[in-house]
Amino acid sequence: MTIKLPQRAQRTGPIYQAIADAIGREIEEGRLKPGSRLPTQRVLARQLGVTLTTVTRGYVEAQRRGLLNGEVGRGTFVRPTALEIEEPARGLLDLAVNSIMPVPYTEELADRLAAAIPRSAGARVFGYQPHAGARHNRAAGAAWIGQTGLETSVERVVLTAGGQHAILLSLLALTNPGDEILVEELSYPGIFDIAEHLHLQVRTLPIDSEGIRPEALAEACAKHKPAALYCISTFHNPTTALMSETRRVEIAAIALEHDLTVIEDDVYGFLAPDAKPLSTFLPESKFIYITSTSKSIAPGIRIGYLLAPLPLVERLSMAVLRTLVNAPPLMAELATSLITDGVAGRIVEWKRKEIAARQEIAARVLRGLDVQTHSQSPHAWVKLPEPWLSEAFVSHARHRGILVTGAESFAAGHETNVQAIRIALGPPSTRAALEEGLGELVRMVNRVPEAYELVV
Ligand SMILES: Cc1ncc(COP(=O)(O)O)c(C=O)c1O
Repeated sequence: MTIKLPQRAQRTGPIYQAIADAIGREIEEGRLKPGSRLPTQRVLARQLGVTLTTVTRGYVEAQRRGLLNGEVGRGTFVRPTALEIEEPARGLLDLAVNSIMPVPYTEELADRLAAAIPRSAGARVFGYQPHAGARHNRAAGAAWIGQTGLETSVERVVLTAGGQHAILLSLLALTNPGDEILVEELSYPGIFDIAEHLHLQVRTLPIDSEGIRPEALAEACAKHKPAALYCISTFHNPTTALMSETRRVEIAAIALEHDLTVIEDDVYGFLAPDAKPLSTFLPESKFIYITSTSKSIAPGIRIGYLLAPLPLVERLSMAVLRTLVNAPPLMAELATSLITDGVAGRIVEWKRKEIAARQEIAARVLRGLDVQTHSQSPHAWVKLPEPWLSEAFVSHARHRGILVTGAESFAAGHETNVQAIRIALGPPSTRAALEEGLGELVRMVNRVPEAYELVV
C-alpha cells in the first residue's frame, strides 16, 4: 500500500499536512480500509523521500483529525469508524449476548456480500439446494471443521441455519419422544428449550472447572439408558469450564464403554485453537460435532456446520427438510467465500486477540470478585457474595443500565442455588465501554443490597 503526495507545484501547505491530506483521501476513496495498518513511518519516509520527522508529524496530524489510531509497538491503523455501533436501546450496555462483533471488518464484510455471489453463480445459488447443503458449501464446512484437527469428509457435513438449529437436528436424528438426554447442570438455554419441545427428559450432570465430572457420567450411563450426551467442552456456557485433554479422554472412554453418542457443541472452540475437540477422542460413529459461524464470524452471518456419522446423514437431511428445507443458500455461499479466501480466518485471529485484550481488562477490573474465566474465553462467570441472589442482581444491574445473565437462565427446568452471573465480554463496541460497565458491576456487587433489592 502506498500513500501518494501531489506534485510539489500542486501543494500549498507544509508536507506533513499533505501527508495527512493524502491519508484522508485514501480513506475517503476506500483504498485504505478501517482497521488497516499503515506503513511504518520509516518505510513511508523512504517511499516519499522525506524525513522521518515529517512523516511522524503527518501521522500525528492525521490522528488529530481522527483518521488514525496509533498503538505503541503495534503500529498505526486507520480508525475503525464502524466501531461506533449503537449500543442497545435506552442506553443499556449489553454484557449479556455472547457475541463478538468483528467490528473492524464490518465494512469489508458488507463489500463482500455482492462479491460472494458472482453473476455466473446466480442461477445455482438462487434455487433450492440439497437438504444437507450444496456440495461446495459442505466442503467449506469440512475445511472449517478440519482446522480443529478433526478428520472430516464432505459427505459427513450437513449445513444448518446455525448452532441452535444443529442441536435441534441432532436431537431429531438421535432421539424419540420420552428419551432421556444428559446435559451439564447449567448449560446453553437453547438445549433445554429444544428438549422440552421434543418431549425429552433431561438429566443434568455436575461439572467442575474442567467440565463434566467423569464419575457422574459413568453413574448416569450405568443406571439409565441415555440416548445422547450434549456438552460444551470448550468455554462451557455459562461457567467457562475448559475440559483438559485428560478429561476429554476420560469422558470419551466412558461414552464409548456405554455406547453413548456425544453431541459436542463447539461454537466457542475457535477461541482455543490448542484444545482438541472431545470428538477427536471418539470413533466417527459415536459423535456429532457442531460449530457455527455466528460466534466465529458474526451473528448476522449465521451458518452451522454439523459433522455426523455417515449413516446418520440421511436422517439429518430429512430433519433439515422438515424444519427448514435447506439452510439459507445465500448465507451458505457468503460463509463459503469468507472461509475459502481467508477473510474468516483473519476475523478469527482478530477475535482471539480482542478477547485476550478484553480478558486482561476483566482480570484487572474484576479483581477481588469470585471470578471463573479463562484468558481466551468470551465470557466470565462471577459468583455473587451473600446476600445477593442472581435474579435480583440481574434486575438491579438492568436498572443501572447494564445487561448481564443470571445463573437461573442456564438452569431452565430445574432448580439451581448457584448465585452467579455470566458476563459476556464481546458485545460492547469499545474496550472502554466494557471497562466502564465492568467497573459499575464491581461497585454493585460490593454494595450490600438493601433487603428490598433482593426481591425481584
Ligand atoms: C453453546 C452455544 N451453542 C449454540 C449457540 C447458538 O448458536 P447460533 O447462534 O449459531 O444458533 C449458542 C449461542 O449463544 C451457544 O452459546
